Amino acid sequence: MCGIIGYVGGRPCYELIVRGLEHLEYRGYDSAGFALLDAERDRFSLVRSVGKLEDLRRASNGSAERLAGPTTGIGHTRWATHGRVTLENAHPHLSGDGEVAVVMNGIIENYVDLRHRLQDEGVVFASETDTEVLPHLIRKHYAGDLVAAVRAVLAQIEGHYAFVASHVSEPNRLVAVRHECPLVVGVGTEETFVASALPAFLGETRDVIYPDNDELVVVDADGVTVLDLSGEPVVREPSTWEGSEETAEKGGYDTFMLKEIHEQPAALWDTIGSRLGADGTVTLDGIGLEDPTLARVERVHIVACGTSFHAGLAGRYLIEDWARIPVSVEVASEYRYRTCLAGPGDLVIGITQSGETADTLAAMRVARERGAHVVALTNQTESQATRDADGVLLTRAGLEIGVAATKTHTAQIMALALLALKLGRMRWAITEAGARELAEELRRLPDAIEAYLESPAPAAVADVAAHFVERDFFLYLGRHVGVPVCYEGALKLKEISYVPTEAYPAGEMKHGPIALLDEGSPVVVVAPDGHVFDKVVSNIQEVRARGARVIAVATEGNGEIASHADHVLWAPRTPALLAPITTIVPLQLFAYEIAKGKGLNVDKPRNLAKTVTVE
Ligand code: AGP
Repeated sequence: MCGIIGYVGGRPCYELIVRGLEHLEYRGYDSAGFALLDAERDRFSLVRSVGKLEDLRRASNGSAERLAGPTTGIGHTRWATHGRVTLENAHPHLSGDGEVAVVMNGIIENYVDLRHRLQDEGVVFASETDTEVLPHLIRKHYAGDLVAAVRAVLAQIEGHYAFVASHVSEPNRLVAVRHECPLVVGVGTEETFVASALPAFLGETRDVIYPDNDELVVVDADGVTVLDLSGEPVVREPSTWEGSEETAEKGGYDTFMLKEIHEQPAALWDTIGSRLGADGTVTLDGIGLEDPTLARVERVHIVACGTSFHAGLAGRYLIEDWARIPVSVEVASEYRYRTCLAGPGDLVIGITQSGETADTLAAMRVARERGAHVVALTNQTESQATRDADGVLLTRAGLEIGVAATKTHTAQIMALALLALKLGRMRWAITEAGARELAEELRRLPDAIEAYLESPAPAAVADVAAHFVERDFFLYLGRHVGVPVCYEGALKLKEISYVPTEAYPAGEMKHGPIALLDEGSPVVVVAPDGHVFDKVVSNIQEVRARGARVIAVATEGNGEIASHADHVLWAPRTPALLAPITTIVPLQLFAYEIAKGKGLNVDKPRNLAKTVTVE
């Protein structure tokens, strides 16, 4: 979380830095700030504000003249970890004499100890943050060489971080370093950017260096040098980013989330791409395992967080049913601290759209150390996950800006379906005819969702949601593949509308959650056609008998559900195991409409950030 950026070059950098931060704002938007090195006055021009980037621009308004000159600067957009959301805690942080400025993403775990030691030496802290130890420590070790000072500090700090440091006495220089947090370098013509992620500078340059952990990136007016911790140069040639520019545009939609919901057909199409033959043959280049080895996989372990975890849960049904391989799915933050029993012969899939989630990366690392074959299922080609894994399975959903994941979720399930089909064919768990049929169904899905999104169905979802905008609690129930859909639907609602939700397997309802229900309580029941449909209908009867109002998510054309539910949200018809891809769409829209009805900012929900790079 948090976005950092730095620039050294020939152009005035105020606009480059603030625009770069706007492209990083999905990483955090509690506060923002920048420090531009004003060489003439031998000091930093520091502007910070609580709130979003538009607030930072407003805060800069009065200083236009002062900010027009500098050509070296650093900036930050914050997701608060240590210290409340206040101006004092906004980055950049400066040393007491104002000579050193630092922006950081991550956590310095031993900051309390370092802070006490510095305080004993007379240092006065201006913020509650862990980051602030960095400018003070760098200042303490500075003897005319910023690189040497940063190296000295690296020997003292523990944690996971990426930071950029600047010193007033070295006006055309920045020193940056990463340790388990992302940092990329953009090499332009006589100018260089460092940032947390590519979108920060893709509009300016596509030549990129990806430094490794604990490498020092020294940016000067005449270019970049990468050093190892002992100060020895490391050769790192830039490579050209071949992807699209992926600028954050809403393309006529009110919000990124709505745009991204509507981009799901394209995301699904692109994720299928040329991987799926009409005969059901699946080619997954990059997965890092030859087919015969893949066919012998004994167990699959899926590790992920949040929405990606829910995609993993949906994928389990596909892999177990189509390929007959046992699958475990676990929240990465728990998996990483359990006794890991994965080993050679096991396939571990880390699902992370950003490729940066700290817990997922750690869980993948643990499994890799045990000798399992680790695959990153991600939407980001050059992310940490792709670098840490033995193989990669890419979703091709395009940049997702909305904090609430939508199109990456359905693309993740599609990628897992492709893998399941491949495994199933290789292990002869699916017949040739069966594979052909499934291939057809998978290819039909994007069009079916497109037709759904263009039909009156989304407007009908809005009408239903309008009845429930004021409700203060929702229970989500489902069975079988409906369970992950409930989890995901409930997460969508709570994260963008701040309404408490509970999501449960419907069979478990009588073991506790039914006590939550009251006259009029809204219960969302995921009830697609399939072998548990009748069971779900029984559960609907049970909650209605307690006065609950049922909003059912059902398969288009089902003639029975309307008589059991108060409202029906229709989803395109699909084979039962693929229902998580279709039934989540009306629930994304339902959550969206409730949040809009409440007048909330769905793209930037409170307290959240798009990527969670701290554990
Ligand atoms: C999704 O709506 C959430 N914002 C969140 O749960 C997210 O899915 C989670 O943080 C995992 O992110 P990742 O896929 O980038 O690892």
